Formats: sequence, structure tokens, C-alpha cells
Amino acid sequence: MGELERVDPEVHSAIVAEEARQRGVLELIASENFASRAVMEAAGTCLTNKYAEGYPGRRYYGGCEFIDLVEDLARNRARALFRADHANVQPHSGTQANMAVYFACLKPGDAVLGMDLAHGGHLTHGSPVNISGRYFRFFSYGVDPETEQVDYDEVERLARASGARLIVAGASAYPRILDFERFGRIAQATGALLMVDMAHIAGLVAAGEHPSPVPHAQFVTSTTHKTLRGPRGGFILCRGDWAQEVDKAVFPGTQGGPLEHIIAAKAVAFKEASTPEFVAYQRQVRANARALAAALTDLGLRLVAGGTDTHLVLVDLTPLGLAGREAEEVLERVGITVNKNAIPFDRRGPTVTSGIRLGTPAATTRGMKEPEMRLIAEFIYRALARRDDEGELRRLRDQVRDLVAPFPWPQAG
Ligand SMILES: Cc1ncc(COP(=O)(O)O)c(C=O)c1O
Repeated sequence: MGELERVDPEVHSAIVAEEARQRGVLELIASENFASRAVMEAAGTCLTNKYAEGYPGRRYYGGCEFIDLVEDLARNRARALFRADHANVQPHSGTQANMAVYFACLKPGDAVLGMDLAHGGHLTHGSPVNISGRYFRFFSYGVDPETEQVDYDEVERLARASGARLIVAGASAYPRILDFERFGRIAQATGALLMVDMAHIAGLVAAGEHPSPVPHAQFVTSTTHKTLRGPRGGFILCRGDWAQEVDKAVFPGTQGGPLEHIIAAKAVAFKEASTPEFVAYQRQVRANARALAAALTDLGLRLVAGGTDTHLVLVDLTPLGLAGREAEEVLERVGITVNKNAIPFDRRGPTVTSGIRLGTPAATTRGMKEPEMRLIAEFIYRALARRDDEGELRRLRDQVRDLVAPFPWPQAG
């Protein structure tokens, strides 16, 4: 019996059940992945015991000799991986990274231009229910109704009209390449700063599978746990002339003691992300997303923006007469985990939605390739089309289990 099981059988049994769930289902949530055993090991270490407010060489606590080594490894690896002037690896999450940049370069009430949440943006890009929308005067751009892609002329018009001090680019549910060079030119032409939130695509960027925002933006924020496949957390890259302001905005501006065990795990993830194996993995993530998109389209489903260039596809369920919430529930019953998601110009509210978002990072980590993607598309189609047929749903549950079983769970001991 392990120590956790002995000390706290309730927490232990919930973790065991969650592990069984993760092993047994097909994980298609676009923002999730399976971190490596090395990342997990680093995260579960004695570094959790250490207070280290401040930065390497400038701490408010004694005993930081080895903590400094770890944080310097993480910072230097992040800078090298993304070719950035400066990295701050302390943000506890993607949200914290975004807050820190806002507090580094804005005053409360400043105008900011971000992507509409309902068109694929993120809560932290100015939603009125988020602190970003309450402290700053956010304006939003959306996608073109025809192409369902960002209308850059409209972004430029809104940047001028709003007098935005900062433009925020990046999204949670956008399946096409974002033109960061164009965003950079718009920011320059309108006298705004540019922040790119690459949380979703950081792994693709690291592997050269999506153009990098770093040459075009003063600030780049990210999570570490989505395509990048590290521990749950965030980080910020910035130009050298913003380094001090960004560091001050993280600590003492918006956070206290850093999570050094997670920073150690981030360092491991940055190392893993600089290997040829990781590049091959990201290539397969995109190839799988393309294969999934093509197979869903062949089955008659409508995809937002006509397909994908990235790791995710957004399916418009309107032609099936189905809401996202219902689709998420049906798919969960057959062992496929996805999330309901608003589509551009959605007529349903955010808790119901007309779409689902599907992503390939986790399934690709398990080793799945194009043939599996074609099967998955067929399973999704059958589950949605025959959602009232209990026998068919049971058959599908077995087929999903059989599909997943031969692919090892990457965190198995
Ligand atoms: C684009 C984008 N930015 C920021 C975040 C926030 O990250 P976290 O959940 O770590 O706060 C997310 C997470 O979904 C995201 O998709």
C-alpha cells in the first residue's frame, strides 16, 4: 500500500478512479494533453516546500541556491526554444500570465482590443465577467461571417477607432493560422502594443508548425499544459525593454511565492519540446487534425472556417438539429471526451452552444495516427446521428474502448 493510500484513502481512490477514466476514454479536449513521466516526477518533488519570492539571485528568502538553478534552467530554455529576449516562468496559469502583461503595460481604464469570446477568444481577453473586462475598456473584433476567419482590415479599423493601447491576438477556439505579422503591422500603424496569447498553439510554435509570434509582439503569453505538453502553468516572453516591467507585474504585482516544483516541471517540458521527437509529434498532431477534419467533412458535417491548420476543429451542429451541450453528453456516454463550444454568430448561449471543439494533442500523445482519426470521425458521426438508439450507443462504447486499449497511457509506471 502506498503512503497516500494509507494517509488519505478518499483522495487516493478518487485519483485512482480518475486515472482509470483517463486511460479508458478517448480524450479529444483540444486544451488537454498527457504530460510525460519526467514532467510528472519533477512536479511531485520537495521543491513544493520552498518559498522563493523574487527572482534567481534576488530572492526574499534564504536557501534558494538550487531553486535558482532550476528557475534559470526554465527561463533559459524557454528563451532559447522560442528565440525570445526574456522569459518569466512564474505565472501560475495562462490567466495569471495575461493579467501580469496587462498590469505591466496598462493603467485601469485603458482601451484594449481583443478577440470576441463568442468568436474564439478567451475570457481573459476582455469578457465582462473576467477581471480583464472590469479593469480595462475592452473592444472586440470577431471573424468574417463568410470566411469565419479573422478580418484583419476590421481589426485595423477597430484599433484606430478604439484608440487601443494594446491589441490582444490569440484564441481558444480558432482552427486557422493567425497572421501575427499582420497583427504586428496593425499595432505599429496604430501606435498600439501587441500581446499574443499562444496558449493553445505553443507546442506547434515551438516545433515550427505554426508561425511564431515572437518577432512581431512586445509580449507573448502562454500556458504550458496544452499542445506544449508540460505541467499545468503559464509563462511570459517579452522584448528586453519590457523585461523589468513584466517581472515586477508578476511578482510582486499579481503573485506571491512561485511554484518552484511546477517551474522544475516546466524546465523539463521546455527541454522535451526542443527535441526532434517533439517536432515529429507536433507534425502528427496537425496531420491528425487534418485527417479528422477531412473525414468529418466526408460524412457531411460542417466545420467552422472549412477545416483546420492547427490541432483543433470546430464542428457546427446546427445542420444536425443538435446543441453542443447535448452532443457533449452523448459523446461522453460512448467514451469520447469533448467540450461544447460556441461557433461564430451562435444563436445559443454559452452553456448550450451550437458547436463542439475537437483536438488531437492528447490522442496523438497516445500514438494515434490518421487511420484512427478516420475511425474516430465515424464514431462521432454515428453517436450524434443515432443518439436515441441505446443499442448503437452501447456498441459504440465498446468500439471506443477497443480503439483506445492498444495505445499505452503515457503516464503508466
Ligand atoms: C487562449 C487562452 N489563453 C489563456 C487561457 C487560460 O489558461 P489557464 O486555464 O491556465 O488560466 C486559456 C485556457 O483555456 C486559453 O485557451
